[in-house]
Amino acid sequence: MDKLSCFLLHMARSQHKCIVIFALVCCCALLMALIFSAVDVWGDDEDGITVENCSRTCRAVLVENIPEDLSIPYKDTVSLATGLHELLDKARRSVEIVSPWWALNSTKSGANLPQAKQGQILLHKLMGLRSRSVSLRVASGLTDSSELKALTRSGADVHYLNMTALSRGRLNSSFWLVDRKHMYIGSAGMDWRSLSTMKEFGIIIHDCSCLVLDLHRIFSLYWQLQYKDFLPSIWSKRLTALYNKDKVLELRLNDTKAEAYISSSPDVFCPKDRMKDIEAIKSVIQEAKTFIYISIPDYLPMLNRSKPKYWSQIDNMLREALVLKGRLEVRVLISCGVETEPLTRNFLWSLKALCVESLRCSLEAKFFVPREQSDGRLSRINRSRFMVTDSSVYLGNLNWVGKEIGFSAGVGVVIRQGLTGNITVVERMKAVFERDWHSHYSKALDPDEVPVCSTHTVKDNTSV
Ligand SMILES: *[C@@H]1O[C@H](CO)[C@@H](O)[C@H](O)[C@H]1NC(C)=O
Ligand SMILES: *[C@@H]1O[C@H](CO)[C@@H](O)[C@H](O)[C@H]1NC(C)=O
Ligand SMILES: *[C@@H]1O[C@H](CO)[C@@H](O)[C@H](O)[C@H]1NC(C)=O
Ligand SMILES: *[C@@H]1O[C@H](CO)[C@@H](O)[C@H](O)[C@H]1NC(C)=O
Ligand SMILES: *[C@@H]1O[C@H](CO)[C@@H](O)[C@H](O)[C@H]1NC(C)=O
Ligand SMILES: *[C@@H]1O[C@H](CO)[C@@H](O)[C@H](O)[C@H]1NC(C)=O
Ligand SMILES: *[C@@H]1O[C@H](CO)[C@@H](O)[C@H](O)[C@H]1NC(C)=O
Ligand SMILES: *[C@@H]1O[C@H](CO)[C@@H](O)[C@H](O)[C@H]1NC(C)=O
Repeated sequence: MDKLSCFLLHMARSQHKCIVIFALVCCCALLMALIFSAVDVWGDDEDGITVENCSRTCRAVLVENIPEDLSIPYKDTVSLATGLHELLDKARRSVEIVSPWWALNSTKSGANLPQAKQGQILLHKLMGLRSRSVSLRVASGLTDSSELKALTRSGADVHYLNMTALSRGRLNSSFWLVDRKHMYIGSAGMDWRSLSTMKEFGIIIHDCSCLVLDLHRIFSLYWQLQYKDFLPSIWSKRLTALYNKDKVLELRLNDTKAEAYISSSPDVFCPKDRMKDIEAIKSVIQEAKTFIYISIPDYLPMLNRSKPKYWSQIDNMLREALVLKGRLEVRVLISCGVETEPLTRNFLWSLKALCVESLRCSLEAKFFVPREQSDGRLSRINRSRFMVTDSSVYLGNLNWVGKEIGFSAGVGVVIRQGLTGNITVVERMKAVFERDWHSHYSKALDPDEVPVCSTHTVKDNTSV
C-alpha cells in the first residue's frame, strides 16, 4: 500500500514537472518566434488612422529636376526642390526618409559650385526639423555617412540596414513620408546633384493617408530590419500590404477618379499581399492596349553587367505584348553613359525586329546623348524611371536590370486612370515622356551606328 502511494506521489510530481517544463518550452518557443520574426509586440502606431477613415481625396504633383544647361521646359511639373520644401514646410509631426545615398552637402570639389546650394539648403532644413518638434527618421544602407551622423546629432533617428546580408543587394529605395499623410516617390535621392545637375522625375501626393499608410508599412519593414543579418521567417501582420493589383485603392487624384497600389523589391522583402515590382510592371504592360512608353536609365535583360546570364522576365513581357496585342506602340528611352552596357542596343534591336512586316506593332528606342565632362568622360544625367501606358503609370526606384530588381530594395507606385475627360496624372506623365522623346537630346537607335554612350565600343571600332 505504501509502495503504491509512494509511486502515485512520484507520478504526480513528475507529471507536475513535465507540465512546468512543457510550459517553459512553450514560453521559450514563443519568445524565440517573437525575437526571430519581426513581430512587433509593441507595434508601430499608425496614428489612429485606419483603412476605414484614411483620406482618399488626394492631390498629385509631378516633380522634376531639369539641369540648367538643358533647354527643356518644365511640363506642368514643379521643380523637385520646390516640391520637397513644400513637404517639409507642411510637416507638423514626422518626416520619414529612405534614400540610396546622402550627399546633400557637396564634397570639397563641389563646395563652391552655385548648383550645390539647393542641397545645402535642404540639409539645413532637415537638421532644423527638431527645433520645430518634428521627428525625422531615416532608414539607410550606408554605414559610414558623415551626413547621417550630422543628422543624428541634430536629433534624427537613423536605422541601418545591412542589405548585403539581407538580400545581397543595395538599398535603392527613394521615398518620403510626411505626417503619415503626404508622400514622395521618385528617382532623386538625397544628393545635391539630384537638385541641380541631374535630370530626375518623381511624384508627390498630398493628403493621401490611405496610400501613405500602405507605403509606411514598407518603411516599418525597413525600420525593423536594423542590424539584422537575416530576414524573419514570419513577417508581422502589421506589415501585410493593404492594397495590391486585386485590391486596389480607389481614390481621387486632383478630383479625378483613380486606382493605385504600391509595389516593392526584392521579392524577399514582400510580406503577404504585397505586390512585387516585377508583378506590378507585368500587370501594367499586360493592361496596355495601344501604347507603352518607358523611360529608364538602364534596360538590360541580363543578371548584371559582369555576369552575362539572361534575365528574361521583362524582356518576355515586352515580347509577348508586341506579338499578341496587335497594334501596339512601344517606345523605350534609355539614358546612356559610360556605364551603359553595349548589349542594351542588341536586345532592343531584337525586340524591334519582331515588328518587321507581318506584325502591326512598333518598337522604337532612343538613347539620350549624355553630357561630356571636363575630363572627356561621358556622364549620364537622366535618372527618370517610369512607364506610362494608355491607362496606367508605373513609377519605380530600380533600373530594369536583373541584378537590381532581383536583389536590391526599391518601391514602386502604380496609378491607373482610364479616359475620364479630365486631365489625369497618366496624361501628364505621357506629356513629359513625349517632351523628352522629341527633344533634340534623344537620338534614335540606328543599326549601323553605335550610340555615343558606348565609348568603349567606339574605341574598339576605331582601333580595328
Ligand atoms: C480612425 O478610427 C480609429 C478607430 O476606428 C480612431 O481611433 C481614430 O481616432 C480615427 N481617426 C480619425 C482621424 O478619425
Ligand atoms: C558641409 O560642408 C562644409 C564644408 O564642405 C562644412 O563646413 C559644413 O559643416 C558641412 N555642413 C554640414 C551640415 O555637415
Ligand atoms: C553586413 O553583413 C555582411 C555579411 O553578413 C558582413 O560581412 C558585414 O560585416 C555586415 N556589415 C555590417 C556593417 O554589419
Ligand atoms: C543603389 O544604391 C547604391 C548605394 O547604396 C548606389 O551606389 C547605386 O548607384 C544605386 N543604384 C541606383 C540604380 O540608384
Ligand atoms: C472630372 O472633374 C470634375 C471636377 O473637376 C469631377 O467632378 C468629376 O468627377 C471628374 N470626373 C471623373 C471621372 O473623375
Ligand atoms: C555580378 O554577379 C557576379 C556573380 O553573382 C558578382 O560576382 C559580381 O560582383 C556582380 N557584378 C555587379 C556589378 O554587380
Ligand atoms: C493637381 O493640382 C495641383 C494644384 O492643386 C497642380 O499643381 C498639379 O499640377 C495637379 N496635378 C496634375 C497631375 O494635374
Ligand atoms: C533624358 O533627358 C533628355 C532631355 O530631356 C531627353 O531628351 C531624354 O529623352 C531623356 N531620357 C530618358 C531616358 O528619360
